[in-house]
Amino acid sequence: MINYSKQTIDYKEINAVSKVLRSNYLTQGPLVEKFENKISSYCKSKYAVAVNSATSGLHIACLSLGIRKKDVVWTSAISFVASANAAAYCGARIEFIDISLNDYNLDITSLKKKLIEAKKKDKVPKAIIVVHFAGNPCQMDEIYLLKKKYKFKIIEDASHALGAKYKNNVIGNCKFSDMCVFSFHPVKSITTAEGGIITTNSKNYHSDLMLYREHGIKRVFKNKKLRPKYYEQIKLGYNYRMNEIEASIGIEQLKKLDNFINQRIKIFRIFKKKLNNNLFVYPNISKNSKSSHHLFIILLKKNIKKIRDKIFLRLLKKGLGVNIHYMPIYKHPFYKRKNFFLKNSEKYYNTCISIPIFPSLSKNQQNFIIRTINSIK
Ligand SMILES: Cc1ncc(COP(=O)(O)O)c(C=O)c1O
Repeated sequence: MINYSKQTIDYKEINAVSKVLRSNYLTQGPLVEKFENKISSYCKSKYAVAVNSATSGLHIACLSLGIRKKDVVWTSAISFVASANAAAYCGARIEFIDISLNDYNLDITSLKKKLIEAKKKDKVPKAIIVVHFAGNPCQMDEIYLLKKKYKFKIIEDASHALGAKYKNNVIGNCKFSDMCVFSFHPVKSITTAEGGIITTNSKNYHSDLMLYREHGIKRVFKNKKLRPKYYEQIKLGYNYRMNEIEASIGIEQLKKLDNFINQRIKIFRIFKKKLNNNLFVYPNISKNSKSSHHLFIILLKKNIKKIRDKIFLRLLKKGLGVNIHYMPIYKHPFYKRKNFFLKNSEKYYNTCISIPIFPSLSKNQQNFIIRTINSIK
């Protein structure tokens, strides 16, 4: 079975981990700070705060924006549930924006319409969590203009998009947003096993993120004799710390990031050239963008979920570890609202299949995938 994705690890990460295991620090220490500096320099952001997952990163990003009970937060209907859960943890009400069938990101026209309606009812969201889906950047300058006009905050859920660019802006530079969150889960651009990081250019957000990551504790050095043992808790925070083992893997992985993305770009181009089964639509790269190609998603032209499911099972039986990314979040029982329906998101869900793409996918495996998809009738 060829999995839809997997990590690429070699002796460099293994050596780095053994070095940590022989050192004095296992939990958060100097390597976490080193990793943060390397990410902020790669992304060209002022700050980076490493955490134990993108989910916790999204949560404390919402807390740092001041999202509280009864606030309204919008996100894209097609994403992993964590994009919505982060704001739900803060007690916010979540609403969903339909996607575009060109790049599967939130649809700008739907967003504009929804904002006009919200303005009339005085219900403009406090924040929008935009998702760079499958590694394909959203049209951030258009979203930024809407942010200015309607005065909402933006968190980029860039869990899929480390290494991507929008109009020559590295995703993570926060030119168009307040904060940006990456995931280092094993199927992502790089991995730390579990892990995530938040980038921002705001000093205030940075200091709030540091507090929320560590129980809300601030080390205050008023009493010099007790230094550095004295601390005060000034907010209700969490233990969302990244550890040294994870950071050591991240530092090694980051050195390989551009190679990983180049490998994914090559595979994307080969698939685009050689996949020719007319039953499917193949993915595009968003305009003015470099995608990190986290996923390669094909859509069945016929909008019939039963047929998609049949093909999906046939591909699985033939040894392709296909996947579905994702069911619209509003269809999950937790978020379900009566009669709620977004046309493009429904169509996308009825027809999508993620096929394998990852840096170490061999030529033989690529050819097998192409042959298998092209032979589906
Ligand atoms: C879009 C999106 N957001 C958030 C997450 C959560 O990431 P993590 O597993 O690092 O918490 C994921 C994970 O797959 C994701 O795909």
